[in-house]
Formats: sequence, structure tokens, C-alpha cells
Amino acid sequence: MKKYRILLMTLALSISLAMMAQTNQLLIQTDQVGAEIQPTMYGLFFEDINYGADGGLYAELIKNRSFEFPQHLMGWKTFGHVTIQKDGPFKRNPHYVRLAYAGHEYKHTGLDNEGFFGLGIAADTEYRFSVWARLPEGSSSGKISVQLVEPNTCGDKQAFASQKLTIDTKEWKRYQIYLKPIKTVQKAILRIFLESKETVDLEHISLFPVDTWHGHENGLRKDLAQALYDLSPGVFRFPGGCVVEGTDLNTRYDWKKTVGPVENRPLNENRWNYTFKNRLFPDYYQSYGLGFYEFFLLSEELHAEPLPVLNCGLACQYQNTDPDANVPVCDLESYIQDALDLIEFANGAISTQWGKIRAEMGHPASFNMKFIGIGNEQWGAEYTERLEPFIEAIRQVYPDIKIIGGSGPNSEGEQFDYLWPEMKRLKVDLVDEHFYRSESWFLSQGTRYDNYNRTGPKVFAGEYACHGEGKKWNHFNASLLEAAFMTGLERNADVVQMATYAPLFAHIDGWQWRPDLIWFDNLQSVRTVSYYVQQLYAYNKGTHVLPLTMNHKPVAGSKGQQGLFASAVWDEYNQSYIVKVVNTSSDAQSLSLVFSGMQKNETLSAGICITLQSDDPDKDNTLDEPQAIVPIQKQVMPIKNVFNTKIDANTFAIYKFTKISKQ
Ligand code: AHR
Repeated sequence: MKKYRILLMTLALSISLAMMAQTNQLLIQTDQVGAEIQPTMYGLFFEDINYGADGGLYAELIKNRSFEFPQHLMGWKTFGHVTIQKDGPFKRNPHYVRLAYAGHEYKHTGLDNEGFFGLGIAADTEYRFSVWARLPEGSSSGKISVQLVEPNTCGDKQAFASQKLTIDTKEWKRYQIYLKPIKTVQKAILRIFLESKETVDLEHISLFPVDTWHGHENGLRKDLAQALYDLSPGVFRFPGGCVVEGTDLNTRYDWKKTVGPVENRPLNENRWNYTFKNRLFPDYYQSYGLGFYEFFLLSEELHAEPLPVLNCGLACQYQNTDPDANVPVCDLESYIQDALDLIEFANGAISTQWGKIRAEMGHPASFNMKFIGIGNEQWGAEYTERLEPFIEAIRQVYPDIKIIGGSGPNSEGEQFDYLWPEMKRLKVDLVDEHFYRSESWFLSQGTRYDNYNRTGPKVFAGEYACHGEGKKWNHFNASLLEAAFMTGLERNADVVQMATYAPLFAHIDGWQWRPDLIWFDNLQSVRTVSYYVQQLYAYNKGTHVLPLTMNHKPVAGSKGQQGLFASAVWDEYNQSYIVKVVNTSSDAQSLSLVFSGMQKNETLSAGICITLQSDDPDKDNTLDEPQAIVPIQKQVMPIKNVFNTKIDANTFAIYKFTKISKQ
């Protein structure tokens, strides 16, 4: 009997020793509160790619509203007697249409607009149609009807909303009417009929939902802006990306053309129109309707720091090897002045030239801009010799503005190695790093920033996303690896001060690049798993880094760490500890979170565990199944300062406990 008991005890001891051996003990040193986590840490990168602005966030439903596309009627179909004229009221957009009698009472004059992949029209929603119109010489009164039309209906009537509008002035004037359809149509068209025998002229034909984000007339699509707000971004980088550079300098994003009355903002050719021949969108132009004023306003409404990026005098270096494509260093003056004027536009008193324009547009108060990026993905001496005079000029007039330089398009390599020391020499405040990399790269980069120099510029991970090997689209495993990699950003928050996933938006009918954070069609949008990863980090960013180790080493997917990545933060506002663990392995793992260094009278409250998990590494949320993979929250209970748990395979988990002090 005694022998049997000893045998049992030995067995029990070896089982618990084996279990201990398999338990991954993560030690969180609560008494070693480290670097502050910047409020800007997790943010947004927004570029007009994938119809992200025109046809996306910008709520205008009419494509080519000013008839300024090089093919003036692109997006429009005309019938009857329609001609293009070019002496309109807006200097930078001179073209407009003239509608004249079709010549027979059974013939009709008018035009259809196809919108961006159709116009998404929702039932019981009010739409504002507006147009600049006049009666030309010889006309004394004119009438048009404005219809929302379902082109493919089998019903008797294609129009499902209709209004008449009388044109009664010889001078150009803005007219507006409201339409409230009772039907939802995913791909409608706008149809205008000339109803009078007399001729009318029409310019800047526009249709917006009335209910935009914050109700602005020149507004943004509400569901998409809400999705941005729900990410709680700390910083908002705009307008790109390669559109900053343009394919040539004529097509670069020119901020001065994007402010003032929308009717007079000139058209720009969007480089994503033709960048990829295999995904060609010949009707992709920038109306600049969502311009720099709207960007600053949105940043303010999102409570995010605006971070504009300006052209440094270089056209896209991938697409231009001829030095003549660029601005010579000695001729950079107007580009540098653009940067200085932008700061004045954002922050200047209303008595200044550009501050006055901001005030006239509706925002007398400063936007309090603190950051500026110069150059997007530039490289070589061509970049640094241009960046230098920008820095000198900005520092001289605005010494408090933080300047962001770049490290080129790659996460490492020749250009990167050349640019980092150069950025130190030029004393930029932050260096923008870009990495669209494979799953194996993300798995191997858990310690990327652990040994970065702490005395030079800080890091802005300005564009990144995991692009699966042979799976360059959104899927769960890529998002999981982004979560894993981000533990390394967080652990090194003393050096990494901003990070923005890219790109942000994609229209399902109009994308050029994937994966992307938010997908949408004309009426709906879906938040991807990567979106939820970003959101979980932003909501749980805490205020200070805490050391977290396993066997005295950071947990970064290293050898012997069972595919685990982890980081910990202290949240001084909520007095809580937040631990993020990513299990990238296909086995569940036992975890023991040990919160060391707590005082005798301190303990942990019941906490919460939030998980993001999928058994299918290839799955993601879709418009049809938008909630397929979303964060799930449950209550958990630690024992004193220890929390033992199991993390499922392929799971991102956040554990959060409040510190309680007993009297
Ligand atoms: O995000 C898509 C593109 O990737 C950006 O425009 C560019 O900066 C990078 O190459």
C-alpha cells in the first residue's frame, strides 16, 4: 500500500513538473514603469488609392461633375442636343454642358451620370442635388427634371425619385433641390432631362447625401468616417503615399489647389489610374473635393494629430530615372514656400494670407498642426539634398514643428542603410519606415526595434501590412502576424512613436492594391481583421511600457518561445495593467502571467480577456459576413498577482487587470 502511495505521488509530481515545463511564464515587472507611450502611437494613413477619396470617403456621388476629365464627357452619357462649352464661371474648371431642344416633341435632350461604379442610393435618405446653371443668350426660362434611375429594372418606370428645377437667371447661380427615394439601389444613375424648349447651361453637377459625417455639405461618407473614428487614431497621415509624388510632377498632390471653393479646385490625374496595367482605372481622377481643409477638419473631429506629407521636388523615383523629371535643388523655392504656407494655412492667425483663407473656409481657429512629412518614398542623395533646404527653412520659421524624413521604400537594404545615418545628420525628428512584407518577415521581426539607437530620430512606421506569401490579400494569418509584430513596436515605444497601417480603404469594384484595412461598396463597408488588430492596440495602448520577459528575454517569437509574442503596458488613467499576447503557433499554449513588484497591500481585480481568433488562417470579414471574426470579451479572475490561463492556437489575446490598493 505504502509503495503504491509513493508511486502515485511520484506520478503526480512528474505530471505537475511536466505541466510547469510547458507553461510559459511571462514576467511583468510592474515596479519598472518604462517609456511613455505617445498619444500618436497608433494612427491612420490615408491616400486616394483604391477609390479611397473620390468614390469613397468623399461623399460626392457624381463622377466628373465639372466636365474637366480630359475626355470631357467621361462618366456621362448624353442624348438629344448636348454640347460642351468652355467659358464657364470657374476659371480653373471652364467646361460645362449646354442642353438645347432636341428638335421634336417626341425626342429628348439630357444626360446620365454613372457615378463611381454606379451611385449607391439608400431608401428614405435625403440627397441634395445642386448645379450651377444659367439661361444663355436667347433663353428666357428653362426647366430640367432630375431623376434617380435604376437602369436595369424590369418595372415600368426606371426613375425611382424625381424633381423638377426651374432655371430663371441669365447669370450663373447655384440651384439645389432634394430627393428622397423610397427604394435602395446599389448601382443607380443620375438622369437629367431638359424639360423646356429653351436652352440651359449646367456646370458642377453634384449629388450628396444630406446626412454626412458631422453634417458637412461638402461632406464625407458617414459609415467610412465612423470607421475611422472607431479606430481612435492618434495621428492622421495624408495625402499619401505615391500620390504625393505623382507619376510626374504635374500630377503630384498640390495642396494649394485643394483649398477654397470646391467648384474652382482643378482636377488632378490620379496616378493609380494607370500605375498597374493589370488593374487599370482610366476614370480615376482627383476632384480635390476632399482637400487639405477637409483633411484638417477631419483630423480635428477624429481627435488625431494631422500629419501632412508634401512633395520634396521629386517625382516618383520608381517611374522617373531622368534627372530632368525633378526640380533642381536650386529651384526648390516654391516647393519650400508651399510647406511654409501649409503651416500658415493650418496654424496661422487669420490676419495672415493663408490663415485668412482657412478662416474664410469656416475655421478661424488654428488647427494646431505639429508634424510635417517631406517626401514620401524617396531615396539617395537626390532626396537628402532636397530635404536639407526644407529642414533649414522650416526650422527657421517654425522651430516647434516636428519634421519627418524617410528611409525609402524598403525595410532594410542599401537605400535604408544610406538614409538612416543621413536622417540623423539632418536631425529630422522622425524617420518614416515602410514595410509591405511577407509572413516570414513579420515572424522574424519581433525584436526589430530592441537594439535601435536611442539617441537619434524616432521611428514612424508610416506604411506597413503583412502580405502573405502568394496571398496578397486580406486574411486572418496576415493580421495575426501584424498583431505579433506590433508587440515589438509597443515594447520599444521609447523609439517607435507612430505607426500607421496602409492602405486604409478599398472599393470592391475599384481597388489597385491589397490588403487594405476597410473595404466598401457603394452602400456598405466592412472592417477587416487587421482593422480590429489596429483598434485593439489603439484602445489598449496604455500610457507606459512595462518590461515583460520569459526566461529573462523579451517575448518575440524567438527560439524556444513557442511562437509567442508579447508586450505589457501600464495605463495610469485607469490604473490597469494590459498584457498583449499573440500565439502564432498552431498549438494552444499555457500561460502564467506573473505581475511582479506589486506592493503588499496591492492586488489585481477581476479582469477581462479580449481575443481575436480564427481556425481558418485564410478567412477574413467580408461585406456578406462582416462579423465573421471580431474581438470577443470575457471576464477572467487572477489569483493575487498571478493569472494562469491557456491561449488558443492562432490567437491574439489582451488581458487587462486593474490594480487595487487595500487600506
Ligand atoms: O500604400 C500604397 C503605396 O505603397 C503607397 O502609395 C506608397 O507610399 C507605397 O509604395
